[in-house]
Amino acid sequence: MKAWGDLPGDDPDRDRAETEAAIEAAGIDLDPAPPGAHRRGDATHPNDHQHPHGHSEPGEPPIIGIVGAGAVGTALGVALTRAGWPVHAVASRDPERRERFRSLVEVSRVFADPEPILDEVELIILAVPDDVVGPLAATLRMYSGQAMIHTSGALGAEILAPAMAAGTQIGAFHPLVAFADTERAVQALHGATVAIEGDDQLAAMLADMAEAIGAIPVRLAPGSKTAYHAAAVLAAGGFVALLDAIAELGRVAGLDEAGSLAIYGPLIEGTLGNARALGIRSALTGPMTRGDVGTLESHLVALRAHAPGVLDLYVAAARREVDLAEQRRVLAPEDASKMRIVLAAALQATPEPVP
Ligand SMILES: NC(=O)c1ccc[n+]([C@@H]2O[C@H](COP(=O)([O-])OP(=O)(O)OC[C@H]3O[C@@H](n4cnc5c(N)ncnc54)[C@H](OP(=O)(O)O)[C@@H]3O)[C@@H](O)[C@H]2O)c1
Repeated sequence: MKAWGDLPGDDPDRDRAETEAAIEAAGIDLDPAPPGAHRRGDATHPNDHQHPHGHSEPGEPPIIGIVGAGAVGTALGVALTRAGWPVHAVASRDPERRERFRSLVEVSRVFADPEPILDEVELIILAVPDDVVGPLAATLRMYSGQAMIHTSGALGAEILAPAMAAGTQIGAFHPLVAFADTERAVQALHGATVAIEGDDQLAAMLADMAEAIGAIPVRLAPGSKTAYHAAAVLAAGGFVALLDAIAELGRVAGLDEAGSLAIYGPLIEGTLGNARALGIRSALTGPMTRGDVGTLESHLVALRAHAPGVLDLYVAAARREVDLAEQRRVLAPEDASKMRIVLAAALQATPEPVP
């Protein structure tokens, strides 16, 4: 796979120069600028001088700038630098986060605002909250030869389109990692999947970047990114919600959080191991596979009495378990019906008797 500096392609500077020459020949001045001035988004300039942003040598990684020194920006900064893809610049509005980034990543330039980064780098990584990506991109305008990517799993690359100018590219680089702690996240990037978007040239470079940090690049089928991301949210945040519910019930049984993790952790790991070895459906165990309506009812009574906040989650999971058990043909349809009635009643103020 070719490195960024090697990649062949169109010569947007030349194309744009030809276009502008034709416009000039027609006597049209679209956007007059004072002599020597740069205009962001220009591929050519009034005078003969270089674009202000740096250029990597052929065969070298691109010159990288990261906007956002939060969880993802910082971990990516550390991982890329360790992998020999140095980060040249970072932008973070928060002085403490800037300092933390600088202490972890040997970075040449540190800015409070994202805009100056565009004067220095070839690849701009927006590692900012999902809701900020689009509005932020709309305030930025790239120079020819630059690429901008975001790290969101929920958004497509097209949200960056407002920052485009002739000869620029946009893409996305979404690591399937829970960035709770910088060093743990850097380690977790090894073997993690990174969903990549971008045209072929940019995607090839992003695939190299993912592999450099030990990750596995994938390109998702068009239109599938939101479902892919929703699954990731269930696997990470959803699983934490489940752990929290487990710990709440553990407290009723006299366990602190560490105690719950010690006791239920091996059960979780064993279940995951079973799912990997046998398939998800076959990994299902418990009262729903046996049609134990009495056990289900006693759980629901205990939850209402001691942990009402867990009731919704238990019922939602149990409904799915009943479906799975029925599909696996270990739960008779009539038992499945009884369980569904009990579960529906559990969410009502006054439970209905089981027929
Ligand atoms: N956390 C995860 O596990 C995870 C996993 C994969 C992908 N992602 C994606 O990665 C992106 C970043 O997530 P994160 O968890 O790193 O978020 P985060 O920890 O909240 O960090 C976000 C960074 O963006 C900066 N920022 C916030 N608002 C801004 C604005 N209006 N203009 C410029 N910068 C702004 C923040 O403030 P300062 O400028 O003040 O520093 C901070 O440095 C999101 O798209 C998220 O979906 C997250």
